[in-house]
Amino acid sequence: MSSAADRKRGGVAVVALGCCALGAVTVGATLRLAPRPWPSAKANAPAIATEEYGQRLIAQTSELLGPDVADPAKRYSGSRLACGSCHLGAGTEPGTLSLLQATRHYPRFSPRVAATTGIEDRINECMQRSMNGRPLPANSPEMIAMASYIRVLGDRNAAMGASLLKSAEPPAFKTPARAADILDGKQIFDRHCAPCHGSDGLGLLAAADRIQGYAFPPLWGPDSFNDGAGMHRVLTAARFIKARMPLGKPDLSDDQAFDVAAFINSQPRPHMANLDRDFPDRSAKPIDTGYGPYADDFPVGQHQFGPFPPIQAYYKSLKKSSASAPEK
Ligand code: HEC
Ligand code: HEC
Repeated sequence: MSSAADRKRGGVAVVALGCCALGAVTVGATLRLAPRPWPSAKANAPAIATEEYGQRLIAQTSELLGPDVADPAKRYSGSRLACGSCHLGAGTEPGTLSLLQATRHYPRFSPRVAATTGIEDRINECMQRSMNGRPLPANSPEMIAMASYIRVLGDRNAAMGASLLKSAEPPAFKTPARAADILDGKQIFDRHCAPCHGSDGLGLLAAADRIQGYAFPPLWGPDSFNDGAGMHRVLTAARFIKARMPLGKPDLSDDQAFDVAAFINSQPRPHMANLDRDFPDRSAKPIDTGYGPYADDFPVGQHQFGPFPPIQAYYKSLKKSSASAPEK
């Protein structure tokens, strides 16, 4: 934690550090506890593409891949967020947006791009959306390092068993039946979030030199995730916020998490081009995707802020009728 952050928001910074949620501390502690040596890097991988480098790339993304990096070729990220801004403890913390199990989920079919995707593709999706950047080449040392770090997390997690996965998170988020109340969300933001993320939502840099990124990341504005990111979907954001925020003592109700997620996502942020090409099969589009076209007639505003149960019911009824249709 920087001295700037300590000075400006001293009390809060101590809370954040004390609770284990800040990347470097957690990762350091976890790595020392690893029960077996890390598998050696792939024989053909460039020498620097180690798991350790992958961990640093995820924890200190701005310093290594951000817009202020000296080598323009390495400026892959369009923002000064870190991957670890959302994947807490560089992905080592169990629970929402943990990367401990990520490799088990790939390869898999991604309806967003209508293709089978691997872990490298998924990293690039976060790079282009959550980090508002450009994709890393599959054979770059940075991609190899991040992918092997995430694989090693998975291996180690399998070796340690389920106990590591038990988390102290609040009960899972349940979608309220009503539309989100953005004005109420603003009040929740002012009270519960502004002390760290700033009353303007633009976060607090770790140091005056911007390359080190944020002590408290922005929730909107030009340096935040773009409108094609998962965090820009109100239910994804609400799930994360309910489980994880305020950092160190998540205590919002479902209704509060829903409203504050809507408030954050009603604020300006970078726009991603060609979003209308996502989800070629529109019926596979998550119902809280904030941009069309859709396979239904509900207005965009309802996809952004609810109420969601009518949309859910519509797709459920479609599935039922197609399931009961005679096979061809
Ligand atoms: C603004 C928040 C945010 C940032 C920053 C971010 N991600 Fe993500 N990431 C997400 C969300 C949301 C998901 C999707 C979870 C889901 O599918 O429900 C995700 C999913 C992933 C997954 C797939 C996990 C799984 O289990 O399937 C990987 C791997 C991943 N991110 C890696 C990265 C990397 C590497 C970076 C940095 C280059 C990064 N993310 C930056 C929010 C973020
Ligand atoms: C105690 C300080 C603190 C408070 C209070 C807090 N956060 Fe955070 N938040 C953080 C930190 C620090 C991170 C980045 C995690 C990391 O670097 O380990 C973060 C990350 C996030 C992220 C993902 C990264 C990004 O910039 O989009 C979101 C979304 C978020 N917080 C929303 C909220 C909301 C909503 C509230 C209020 C309900 C809140 N936070 C309250 C400290 C805080």
